[in-house]
Amino acid sequence: MTTVLVSENQPGDIDSLAAALTEAPEMQIVAITRDGLETVQTIAGLHPQVALVRAQLPGIDGLEVCRMASLASPQTVLIVVVDSAEEEAEIRDEAMQSGARSVVNLRTEPATLLRRIEELVRRIPRQDDEEYALATDPSRAPVTISVTGAKGGIGKTTLTTNLAVVLAQRYPGQVVLVDFVGHYGDTNLLLDLSTNGDILELTDYDELDSELVRSRLARHSSGLHLLGGVDGSRNLSASGALTLPYVANMLGVLRREFRFIVFDIPPLVHPLSNYVFLRSNHIVVVTSLADLSSIRNTGALLASLLGGQLPAERVKLVVSRADGQDPFGVQELEQAAKHKVYAQIPNAPEVAVSALNSGVPFVLSRPTAAVSQAVERLADMLTQEMPKGAK
Ligand SMILES: Nc1ncnc2c1ncn2[C@@H]1O[C@H](COP(=O)(O)OP(=O)(O)O)[C@@H](O)[C@H]1O
Ligand SMILES: [Mg+2]
Repeated sequence: MTTVLVSENQPGDIDSLAAALTEAPEMQIVAITRDGLETVQTIAGLHPQVALVRAQLPGIDGLEVCRMASLASPQTVLIVVVDSAEEEAEIRDEAMQSGARSVVNLRTEPATLLRRIEELVRRIPRQDDEEYALATDPSRAPVTISVTGAKGGIGKTTLTTNLAVVLAQRYPGQVVLVDFVGHYGDTNLLLDLSTNGDILELTDYDELDSELVRSRLARHSSGLHLLGGVDGSRNLSASGALTLPYVANMLGVLRREFRFIVFDIPPLVHPLSNYVFLRSNHIVVVTSLADLSSIRNTGALLASLLGGQLPAERVKLVVSRADGQDPFGVQELEQAAKHKVYAQIPNAPEVAVSALNSGVPFVLSRPTAAVSQAVERLADMLTQEMPKGAK
């Protein structure tokens, strides 16, 4: 049954069309309204599937009714009703721009009107459809986290790997770590995993699909999937082979397959990094307080990130290897970066080195260590920013 609201300029003035609705067994007129205000109020209250909106209504006119009703009841199909075919042609564009889905006139054949309504109602996506739910529920949308940093050697890859492992423990099978032009395949080392292909090898294929990409992922015992980095000797060729269309497709495939996509990505493989950052929910910028050049470089990196199109709240400044003995303080960093520090990861050389030597990330081998707890807290903060209802 299709529920229809009918608005009239004068009582009975659209009887020719209303009669067709009354006779059609699958249509039900659920309300009749007189002026524009009443029409919007009734659409907003009843959410009929269809509303016939007279172009000229007392008070708020029909097109303004459409603009308000399409906001207040987006699921209602609005059909503007004018007097003549000439008027129909004149008003069509503006009606469509005002949120109407169709325009008819008082002389439109009843059968044509019924067919038009059926077609429009059929095109409304079914809200109980699985694909609709997946596409529109923000709590089910994938979260992309890019971890970057102005300088090497500050613990970026260590943090990224441990963060990805923490997420993988919380969301088993749903997290992939992508070593994006990593140096010397660092993530493989940290996880003690050998990979079967990598981000560069996949550029040999014309088309990427889920099966192909999955066949190249390594699976860690924590449940984390890894797309391995390019080893040092092939790093140079990587810059040419990793094209924007390739990276765009790759990210598309990963978004369909995983809830969390974590990139370890250098900031300056232009224009790829900027592209990946724009498709990321969080851009974690890792820095250190150990030397002036880190602070300066981080300031310059943040200026370029925030001076572009990226919303500031998506950029998360994280201090790595923080130590009471650092020559610079958080305040100096915040001043240079013109951005608040989001989290701090303590310096823990002994924990970091033994994790590297054993190939077991410290969040697994030393879960109670301060550095592991700090990574857990960072994961908490990032996941708390996910839309409500996320599981
Ligand atoms: N929180 C930490 N405390 C102490 N040492 C760390 C920490 N994180 C990383 N390291 C060490 O710093 C070095 C560089 O780490 P890595 O993660 O490869 O940095 P990047 O990716 O920034 O080059 C490694 O020797 C690593 O063990
Ligand atoms: Mg690294």
